[in-house]
Amino acid sequence: MLLSWTLVATLLAPKFALGTRTTPSQRSYDTHNYYVVEHDPRASAGASLDDVMHSLRVEPVEELRELKHHWLVRAEKPPTPDLVARGDTQSREFDPVIDRYHQLRDTASSHLSARSEDGLRAREVVASVRHLERQVLRQRSKRAPPPIRRPATIEDVSHRFGIKDPIFSKQWHLINDAYPEHTMNVVPVWEMGLTGKGVISAVVDDGLDFTSEDLAPNFSAENSYDFNDHEELPYPKKSNDKHGTRCAGQIAAAKNDACGVGIAYDSKIAGIRILSKPITDVDEAVALNYGFQNVSVYSCSWGPPDNGRALGAPSYLIRKSVVNGINNGRSGKGSIFVFASGNGGGHEDQCNYDGYTNSIYSVTVGALDHKGQHPYYSEACAANMIVAYSSGDGKHIVTTDKGKNECATNHGGTSAAAPNAAGVFVLAVQARPELTWRDIQYLAIETAKMINPEDPDWETTATGRKFSYKYGYGVLDAYKFVTAAQKWTLVKPQAWFDSPAIQLNGGKMNQANKFSGGTPIGPSGVTSTITITRDMLKTNNFEALEHINIQVWIEHTRRGDVEVEVVSPKGVKSVLGKKRSGDAAKTGFPGWVFMSIKHWSVFLSLKRFWADQFGSRGEDPVGDWTIKVSDQNSTSESGTFVGWKMKFWGTTIDPKKAEKYELPLVDNVLPPINDPSRPAIDVPTVTEQHAKPSAFLPEGVVTSASTSSSHVPAETPLAAAGTTEQEPDDSFLADVSDVISSHKIVFGGIGVVSLISLVAGAFYFRQRQERLKNYASLSDDTNPMAGVYGAEPASLAVPSAGRHPRDRVSVGLGFHSSFLDDDDLSTAGTGHTPKYRDEPDADEITPVAPVSSTAPTDTRAP
Ligand SMILES: *[C@@H]1O[C@H](CO)[C@@H](O)[C@H](O)[C@H]1NC(C)=O
Ligand SMILES: *[C@@H]1O[C@H](CO)[C@@H](O)[C@H](O)[C@H]1NC(C)=O
Ligand SMILES: *[C@@H]1O[C@H](CO)[C@@H](O)[C@H](O)[C@H]1NC(C)=O
Repeated sequence: MLLSWTLVATLLAPKFALGTRTTPSQRSYDTHNYYVVEHDPRASAGASLDDVMHSLRVEPVEELRELKHHWLVRAEKPPTPDLVARGDTQSREFDPVIDRYHQLRDTASSHLSARSEDGLRAREVVASVRHLERQVLRQRSKRAPPPIRRPATIEDVSHRFGIKDPIFSKQWHLINDAYPEHTMNVVPVWEMGLTGKGVISAVVDDGLDFTSEDLAPNFSAENSYDFNDHEELPYPKKSNDKHGTRCAGQIAAAKNDACGVGIAYDSKIAGIRILSKPITDVDEAVALNYGFQNVSVYSCSWGPPDNGRALGAPSYLIRKSVVNGINNGRSGKGSIFVFASGNGGGHEDQCNYDGYTNSIYSVTVGALDHKGQHPYYSEACAANMIVAYSSGDGKHIVTTDKGKNECATNHGGTSAAAPNAAGVFVLAVQARPELTWRDIQYLAIETAKMINPEDPDWETTATGRKFSYKYGYGVLDAYKFVTAAQKWTLVKPQAWFDSPAIQLNGGKMNQANKFSGGTPIGPSGVTSTITITRDMLKTNNFEALEHINIQVWIEHTRRGDVEVEVVSPKGVKSVLGKKRSGDAAKTGFPGWVFMSIKHWSVFLSLKRFWADQFGSRGEDPVGDWTIKVSDQNSTSESGTFVGWKMKFWGTTIDPKKAEKYELPLVDNVLPPINDPSRPAIDVPTVTEQHAKPSAFLPEGVVTSASTSSSHVPAETPLAAAGTTEQEPDDSFLADVSDVISSHKIVFGGIGVVSLISLVAGAFYFRQRQERLKNYASLSDDTNPMAGVYGAEPASLAVPSAGRHPRDRVSVGLGFHSSFLDDDDLSTAGTGHTPKYRDEPDADEITPVAPVSSTAPTDTRAP
């Protein structure tokens, strides 16, 4: 018996309208068949819903909540079986409702009934039913991690894969007898026949003992180099040069009778030796691109000191080589850089105070111990992507050691977590060679397994996924990663856009790191908001959010007191920097760039579903992003929040309009200067006609900043674009940038070298003015203009910002000296001396010695 549709509709409608009906009605699948009808009320010459129901002889159940004009309907099951098997392979369902619809369709299109009343009604019904589908009960399988079949025993696996390596049984990160679920889960990947064949990775470290029987068979000499001694092969010459060999063994130790096996035991491994002595930026830059057409993965288990005091980032040149690796390495698919998150956890150190680990180009890997617990040393931060197994709780990583047939049983720290991840990426590249560097990051985030769900550090992101500063998105699982990689749809190219810069109370910082203006940080901190509009996204061809960068200018008498966090329009908070009791630097944050992956917007497996059915969910960057800068409210220390800006990274809307990112020459002054390397058409809010230095800032937005502190003076927002008053001294540089942008065509012909020269010249001149003011009594032993207008890039010595002019020689070619020349790092002498990322355990059998005589000693006393 049929209810009147109109009646039901009237009964239901008010409830829908009031929004009180929150649960779908009961179903009775035993007695009824269910269908979904999409009824188009706007169909011309269409039938009403009521007529449709009558014609199909179904009764309405309800409208599908968010899906407008879709109706769930039902009909009593016919008394006879409705499924008639026709042969073995084909079975056709006889369904009275579907059949009735087919009849109506036939009638509607029949010439015979063209003018009959039946024909007319049939055409109306057919015109208004866009979609009709019988609902079939289907069991969806849970997205649980693949069941750990009967846990593989060491004997089983050794037998199956013919592994005779004597210490294989101790490699618990491959098979863990005591805690079977806590392994890298690579055995099922080996079972798929994937062991790394044809893929090359490089360990950038203190050398690689290619005479080791475990590494010799698969050593890639062509892609190896010693940047410390400038020799062809990366032999570890110092007594303590064992670290790189151990890391290499984890990835690619051969299946033979020496020690154990690597995760990708048939892959090739190169050694790039940089850590045994101080090296220049130029060597480090070349090292990170070494063999980058053939090397897929660079495993880097080092970084600035993890002492809770350092603030160190790669210099301009090194960052440029990393961007080059991303844009051009692996035939444009991008080098895969894997970085250890750092071992300063016990010193309140955080990976967002390290410019390598908080780079968007790194897969940052923290550590997890053999029981799946967080080892105290592993650094946390919003840039942490995943964790991988390593030492802790008395257990270490067992791997190859330096020597002909030596094994290490005490390897660990985040140093050993990164190569475990690198080994998994090698397997994935074998499975899907076309994965880009961003696909690797998506896969890492999507397939990471949550561990220790009771840990209060887990927080829900806008996508519903959980993120933890300690674990990132979870622990890397080789089987999940590789199987997901096999069916992965490659992501669209990268897009990005820059928010306008906020200058609090006219805050500025010049190239000499000299701050002015800003809002004093009161007892409850300072907040400021940047508003992102839909238009900004569209004009920058920007679709879905991945990484965010937050650049801050903060002056402070004690840097370690400062805390920074940002809250997204969806209310998701990223803690960017927490206090570091040991960091007493007085240099503040002169344009330091934080990174967060906590706002990664859409998980691609869900993307089509969400986007098509419900409009974009997840983290949509449109709206207000609010930063909060606070300190420890100490009576003796104080600071000023001077300014900030954001940079958003994500996918393109239109891949055809994608561009390759180019590193700007200068990006740490406030207000930012126009970047001549980026064509102005991509940033329509930037115009070339403005005469004033600040005019490139988007109109209106630059002024939006607010403070939550009642103690601080009311802010004086900057005047609208084009009306800012500048001190003559400060306007010089910006004026130059304007000259550049307004004469782009002319300069374009002269070439990049000249642009660099001109900008550098401007800085140099400006620096000199500053120095003459600040260091009037010091003699300047170089001619500031020499090499500037000579268009010889190699001779552009840019002085280290704000320091004694004589220091400039050690700075080399870089505009970002302020990042590199951290107070702590400056004790390291010339060049850049990153540290190993070994576990700082007191019971470490082989303590890690200083990298070199000039390197900072390990201050991490147990
Ligand atoms: C690296 O790959 C290129 C092709 O991209 C090839 O010509 C070259 O021989 C390879 N070099 C090594 C060292 O494998
Ligand atoms: C890697 O080493 C194994 C020995 O374990 C050897 O059989 C294999 O051929 C080597 N692979 C390459 C690519 O040289
Ligand atoms: C900041 O310090 C002052 C004095 O030391 C104290 O009165 C005030 O309560 C503190 N404010 C906060 C938010 O802790």
